[in-house]
Amino acid sequence: MNDLHIPESVAIIMDGNGRWAKKRGLPRTMGHKEGCKAIEALVPEAGKLGIKYLTVYAFSTENWKRSEEEVTGLMNLFRYYAMRLLKNARENNVRIRMIGDRSRFPKDIIDSINKLEEETRDNTGLNFVVAANYGGRDEIRRAAMKYRDEVLRAKELGTDISELSEADFAKYLDTAEVPDPDLLIRTSGELRLSNFLIWQCAYSEIVITDTLWPDFNKDELVKCIEEYNKRNRRFGGV
Ligand code: IPE
Ligand code: IPE
Ligand code: MG
Repeated sequence: MNDLHIPESVAIIMDGNGRWAKKRGLPRTMGHKEGCKAIEALVPEAGKLGIKYLTVYAFSTENWKRSEEEVTGLMNLFRYYAMRLLKNARENNVRIRMIGDRSRFPKDIIDSINKLEEETRDNTGLNFVVAANYGGRDEIRRAAMKYRDEVLRAKELGTDISELSEADFAKYLDTAEVPDPDLLIRTSGELRLSNFLIWQCAYSEIVITDTLWPDFNKDELVKCIEEYNKRNRRFGGV
């Protein structure tokens, strides 16, 4: 494990909370609660391993389809864990960022997201990026609208923006300051992206584990990194 190459940017689709709860005859919300504990424990470990960016999928733009009970349960868990997360981030020099459209959340949750970002802005350890009300297509749509506004402003000033490189466009995405994932992990065995980082994962190495998210821990993360180390990244070359 000593000679393991640690990826700079890791993303995780934290899936399987519902199945974890079902196996135990518990309500789905209990699975989400255990899932929160799992990520809380993993954040300091990811930093210690030397990962620089850890991006996790917490709530998708499609997850609003779930029952009112489950959605409310998730909002309440966020309220509770936001405070714990701030303490955890302070103790571990972690900088927190949120990606996704936060405007759809209740006002108190928007306030606590802003507070988490502001109060950890100067931390220099792990960058912990939480995707909440996040969808890759929605992110690209919002980026296109920001770009349109910039073009209109430029026109008013009599200048013109005609060229748009991939790197230029990526600056309008929520992940403008986050490197593309080297490694994408999905727990619970599902073989799909479910609208997560669809632009950014163009060349990510994908590792799927059958472990349900609440059972995921540092040892599981190291196993995924070991698998990543066996890969030969070619980026379209030879
Ligand atoms: C992931 O676990 C957490 C969220 C999507 C909020 P799920 O709730 O999707 O768990 P499964 O897939 O039903 O087991
Ligand atoms: C993806 O999981 C979203 C999160 C983990 C937050 P889902 O459980 O919502 O994805 P599908 O429905 O199985 O594709
Ligand atoms: Mg799921």
